[in-house]
Amino acid sequence: MMDMTSSKDGQSPPNSKKTSKKPKYSKFSQQELPAWKPFLTPGWVIATFTAIGIIFIPIGLASLFSSGKVVEAEFRYDETCLSPDVAKDAVAYIKSDTTNKTCTHKWIVEQKMQAPVFIYYQLENYYQNHRRYVKSRNDKQLWRKSAELQTDHCDPVDKTEGKEPIVPCGLIAWSMFNDTYKFSIDNKDLTINKKNIAWGSDKNSKFGHEVYPKNFQSGGLIGGAKLNESVPLSEQEDLIVWDENSSITNVQKTVWEDRVRS
Ligand SMILES: *[C@@H]1O[C@H](CO)[C@@H](O)[C@H](O)[C@H]1NC(C)=O
Ligand SMILES: *[C@@H]1O[C@H](CO)[C@@H](O)[C@H](O)[C@H]1NC(C)=O
Ligand SMILES: *[C@@H]1O[C@H](CO)[C@@H](O)[C@H](O)[C@H]1NC(C)=O
Ligand SMILES: *[C@@H]1O[C@H](CO)[C@@H](O)[C@H](O)[C@H]1NC(C)=O
Repeated sequence: MMDMTSSKDGQSPPNSKKTSKKPKYSKFSQQELPAWKPFLTPGWVIATFTAIGIIFIPIGLASLFSSGKVVEAEFRYDETCLSPDVAKDAVAYIKSDTTNKTCTHKWIVEQKMQAPVFIYYQLENYYQNHRRYVKSRNDKQLWRKSAELQTDHCDPVDKTEGKEPIVPCGLIAWSMFNDTYKFSIDNKDLTINKKNIAWGSDKNSKFGHEVYPKNFQSGGLIGGAKLNESVPLSEQEDLIVWDENSSITNVQKTVWEDRVRS
């Protein structure tokens, strides 16, 4: 206490003042700022927890109620669509160009669904967050037409044999999932809207509207879906959705949004 007052008033001898490493007095450096220490009595703790609990009950009820209204129906088609005679060698069947892989399935959804109805596909055990795979893209190339030649990180899907750049380059775009779906009810086709399934931020600041696909899937080994070369990347919403990283191995992506009541 004595020490403190003396330094406060600057009354230490002039000699030691020069060499002293003592910090200048302030309430902050002396840790004298006003403080409040809660006194946790059982009554206080119980009252606080009860009050917070009561605040969260309506929030919880609201979330529970709205999630209860969501009707979700799931249909797994990889096994259903494989007839027993080809199931023995499924890989050969999938790789073959001559087999017809169209699969028609009647699917009864018990509950009533209200528009908008969203359709997703889900891949299990697909490691879209694999270290080399996740880097195999070039964001500059996706965004600017002038950056077309930038194919760093895209190896081995970066250039054609004639050294032309591939747009969009990289394994992610190359491996784009391309199963297609058609939905009908009572033999009437559902009108399907494929617009606005991607995030607006991706469309407006990651995928350029002057960048068009080029030399895509034109090499020897075709990975997945092809892209329409007269549609800019910002409108290729399937690609944008595919490009979003998934940190879980059960990749779930939007395919369609059905805004039309059937
Ligand atoms: C494949 O089969 C479906 C019906 O199962 C048929 O509608 C379609 O035309 C067939 N496609 C080809 C290329 O034969
Ligand atoms: C999807 O890609 C594979 C490989 O290129 C191709 O064999 C298949 O016909 C494509 N499917 C559709 C529906 O385009
Ligand atoms: C590609 O897109 C253009 C413009 O939207 C369209 O007219 C054309 O039919 C599309 N081509 C294919 C093969 O889908
Ligand atoms: C995916 O992750 C990579 C690496 O973490 C990152 O560079 C890239 O921007 C991400 N892509 C998207 C669409 O979020």
